[in-house]
Amino acid sequence: MLWGMKSDRRVSRRNALGALAGSVVAVGCGGSNRGEASSGGGATGSGGAAGGGGAAGGGAAGGGGAASGGATSSGGGAGIAGSCKQAPTPGCKITDDNILGPYYKPDAPFRKDITDGKLGSPLTVTGTVYDCDCVTPLAGALVDVWQADDSGAYDNTGFVLRGRVTTDAQGRYEVKTILPGLYLNGSTYRPRHIHYKVSHPAGVALTTQLYFEGDPWIASDAFVKESLIMPLTEVPGPNGQKAYAVTFDVVLA
Ligand SMILES: [Fe+2]
Repeated sequence: MLWGMKSDRRVSRRNALGALAGSVVAVGCGGSNRGEASSGGGATGSGGAAGGGGAAGGGAAGGGGAASGGATSSGGGAGIAGSCKQAPTPGCKITDDNILGPYYKPDAPFRKDITDGKLGSPLTVTGTVYDCDCVTPLAGALVDVWQADDSGAYDNTGFVLRGRVTTDAQGRYEVKTILPGLYLNGSTYRPRHIHYKVSHPAGVALTTQLYFEGDPWIASDAFVKESLIMPLTEVPGPNGQKAYAVTFDVVLA
């Protein structure tokens, strides 16, 4: 792990990600990512589109910004749907939704490795999809992810850095990718993020985003929800390269 105690971890990670950010060439206003913050419109968001927007469906995650992105966090129980097959565990929270953004493409290929040879810092994303009780893993859940490349650009013609996976018998999924790049949204950079659409017949489909703890651009972003910020772990990469791992559990309503 790069970081120890949670409070210290945030500071350290900000430094680590800040250093990374300095090496990234961001896409400016004229790039292909303008309008990321609006969920489909293309106009630069003013902040009003955050929250209940997106395609999370049913708004079940809308119980406020305190919900956890994982199944083990503490907190209240707001936002738990009444359809759970068993009583939610104490502190169980439905994963928050987040804006869809304008770059979603349906029918991405089913594959664990979505890099297509794109260069960048290798990143392994793992997690478990849970039913709304926060303990029952959902096998066969569909996890659809898409993200910008190392330079901050989305592939809007093909499916580079886009893909779908299904969870295994224990509800687990894994995606091999690279750390997403930064790009300008208006006058500030959007923090690094990976878009998610997660669905399963047992739950309400969720649209959300994964962010990385310590990202210096989180503070100025109008769309980040605290519960969606996950610790980034540095791991040994190929040929001595730095690589990263992150875990993002999802609890469907
Ligand atoms: Fe995005």
